Amino acid sequence: MKLSRRHFLKSATAVGAVASMPLALPVGAKSAKSAESTIVNYKSFFNKALANDPRLIGFSDVNHDFSLKSMVIEGKLPEQLQGSLLRNGPAKLERGDIRYRHLFEGDGMIQQFRFIDGKVLHRGRFVQTQKYREEQKAQRFLYSGPDTKIDDSLSVVNNDTVNTANTNIIPVGDELWALWEAGSPTRIDKQTLGYKELVELGAGSRYGDKLKGLPFSAHPKIDSNGDIFNFGLHSSGHIAVYHLKANGLMKNVALINANYRGGMMHDFLITERHVLLVLPSLTQAPMTSGYFEKIQFDKNLPMRVLVLDKNTLSEIKSYELPPGFVFHFGNAWLEKNGTICFDASLYQDADVLHKLSKIMTGQEHQESRAKLVFVSLKTNGQVEINNADITSEFPRILPHLTGHKNQHLYHLSAKENALWSDSVSRVDVTTGKQESYNYGSDYLVEEHVPIAIKGGEKGAFVMGTALHVPSKRTCLNVFEADNLAAGPIARAWLPYHLPLGFHGNFVAS
Ligand SMILES: [Fe+2]
Repeated sequence: MKLSRRHFLKSATAVGAVASMPLALPVGAKSAKSAESTIVNYKSFFNKALANDPRLIGFSDVNHDFSLKSMVIEGKLPEQLQGSLLRNGPAKLERGDIRYRHLFEGDGMIQQFRFIDGKVLHRGRFVQTQKYREEQKAQRFLYSGPDTKIDDSLSVVNNDTVNTANTNIIPVGDELWALWEAGSPTRIDKQTLGYKELVELGAGSRYGDKLKGLPFSAHPKIDSNGDIFNFGLHSSGHIAVYHLKANGLMKNVALINANYRGGMMHDFLITERHVLLVLPSLTQAPMTSGYFEKIQFDKNLPMRVLVLDKNTLSEIKSYELPPGFVFHFGNAWLEKNGTICFDASLYQDADVLHKLSKIMTGQEHQESRAKLVFVSLKTNGQVEINNADITSEFPRILPHLTGHKNQHLYHLSAKENALWSDSVSRVDVTTGKQESYNYGSDYLVEEHVPIAIKGGEKGAFVMGTALHVPSKRTCLNVFEADNLAAGPIARAWLPYHLPLGFHGNFVAS
């Protein structure tokens, strides 16, 4: 069934009007005293669970930056790799007796793995946001998080008051942007990894300060010409869609009145001509206190796909998919016959969101896995979904193919490990053939990033981190993309472990 056309608000005036609406914040304003923070000690629950399951060290608190360390190399690093793998993820999870209830609440930390002169140098720095600096000084949490209520918490003026900049990091011009999804990007110094300031999305453009503080997701897409596309889900049910120049200057913004009440939309897609907004089958339970806790799967709600024209950012058509939930997509492209194709790591429900809370609070949790699916949106309105029947998360493609047909999709799978991923795989999207390297159940495997050296797939590498549980160390692994199953050609070890993170990118130098 087709949805009716949406009303589009595209003028700067209209954008400003919505941007200045009072936000129904995902975090509470000044909170009353909460039973949760005073009675339930999640820190002790987590520590008890950790004593029984050493894999949980990936979710342990970090209380310091990691100073520059030369990693111990096994194998031989390819000389062509010059630059840094930069990653981001939540790392400050506890202060005093308080432990955050959801992994997404933790303050972000940037990990840098710099390839230079046959060595890999690592350092890790907390993103020194306003919130982080204030709480570091006070040596306690001062603000309630989306799910964790803090006694006598300070007022949250807007989402950026509690912006943890904890999900992704991308290069923009000569800078780095650390990304959250409910507020502004955070400008990071490329040399020092130091915090600079929040990015004002409209600054220097015709939008001026009208976009200040609008949500900007952690999964922007970089087009072939370097332009940046992104979206932000607003609590009003509108979706802001952004088109920026490669240097971060805003070119065009649209506000789509999607009337979406699911509270979470994490990723999106572009083709040569389109922006695709996929709205998962989520709803929010009114009687529940935590923001993430409140998000529920609605098994009767189809997923909606809104197809926008990439040049005008106006909606041109929409599709309905069966009920489902997706954190991440790999890529989309347009076939010659007009069919739009994309892949998704598709969950049958939203249990994975709540599993991340159970892990944080030391509770028992069920396995919750996404399966790789390929979706075709046909010009006659029909939808075809092919399930590859492979567990899949953190899908990535070679960056230059974004929006164009990719032959291969790189992603993580889980063969033995029910807590996190344990394998990295490459799937041929035409034949479905999969090649995998299984790290084994002793490893918690994080996102792996394909890197094109000569602008093509030939000679490409795949790079990613993994936490070796028995020795409590993190390693960085480099594979030849064409020979993934043979295992890493080089592995660089730290003498300690890093917290499990989310996303990152290789920035060549
Ligand atoms: Fe993500």
